[in-house]
Amino acid sequence: MSMKFSGQVALVTGAANGIGRATALAFAAEGLKVVVSDVDVTGGEGTVELIRAAGGDAVFIRCDVTRDAEVKALMEGTLAAYGRLDYAFNNAGIEIEKGKLADGDEAEFDAIMGVNVKGVWLCMKHQIPLMLAQGAGAIVNTASVAGLGAAPKMSIYAASKHAVIGLTKSAAVEYAKKKVRVNAVCPAVIDTDMFRRAYEADPKKAEFVATMHPVGRIGKVEEIAAAVLYLCCDAAGFTTGHALAVDGGATAI
Ligand SMILES: NC(=O)c1ccc[n+]([C@@H]2O[C@H](COP(=O)([O-])OP(=O)(O)OC[C@H]3O[C@@H](n4cnc5c(N)ncnc54)[C@H](O)[C@@H]3O)[C@@H](O)[C@H]2O)c1
Repeated sequence: MSMKFSGQVALVTGAANGIGRATALAFAAEGLKVVVSDVDVTGGEGTVELIRAAGGDAVFIRCDVTRDAEVKALMEGTLAAYGRLDYAFNNAGIEIEKGKLADGDEAEFDAIMGVNVKGVWLCMKHQIPLMLAQGAGAIVNTASVAGLGAAPKMSIYAASKHAVIGLTKSAAVEYAKKKVRVNAVCPAVIDTDMFRRAYEADPKKAEFVATMHPVGRIGKVEEIAAAVLYLCCDAAGFTTGHALAVDGGATAI
């Protein structure tokens, strides 16, 4: 099945690296114009260069998703660049914990909730009116398998990703009749800088992490990108309010 997209313009946050970059590249490969956004200017411009080198059309707009004014400006910039917004992948996220719940501190809590929850909320708050005005749109938010169950030593992160699913489902129901679909993707461990930062010091731990996935390996960024594109494409027209695990079977056990 080839994916069909009635829309023309996709926005990806956290698109300087990892899952976001791979998804921006995948949207561009389908012929969509892509707004690449991140706080990492060098990485974001790198993603745009990769898209252009492959013959695609993309612009970079810097945005810290925790700042209302910057998120609003991102949507205005998207309209200025391409005139519309059909698909949004709200993917910017952070993880910084290493200890159990009682070892966490307030700054960690505020930082994780700020990017992972407030960031997704602000993005949807400013994207949905554009999609309503156009009469259609699709949003995918990056949750995690940590949004579906426990994540030991990452309790704040787990809470933030459960919250992403709560925002996703509520928005999906609120706007279902207006043809704005809202879904979440829930990756297990994926080979990105986020993963390498967490496990590079201990190869044994990295090996163990692979065994936590029934398929016997961690995931690839392209495998998440494919799920995001599916949730946006016309074939997913009846799918909204769903949290799709892309996890090598991890949540099936
Ligand atoms: N890698 C995994 O194993 C994994 C698993 C499940 C979920 N996720 C989620 O996937 C998403 C992407 O993560 P990744 O693995 O590609 O990590 P990554 O660190 O490679 O990419 C995250 C991107 O978000 C950007 N970012 C951070 N704070 C931001 C802010 N305030 N405003 C705008 N951009 C900001 C970073 O600059 C970075 O480019 C995150 O939401 C993460 O929680 C990752």
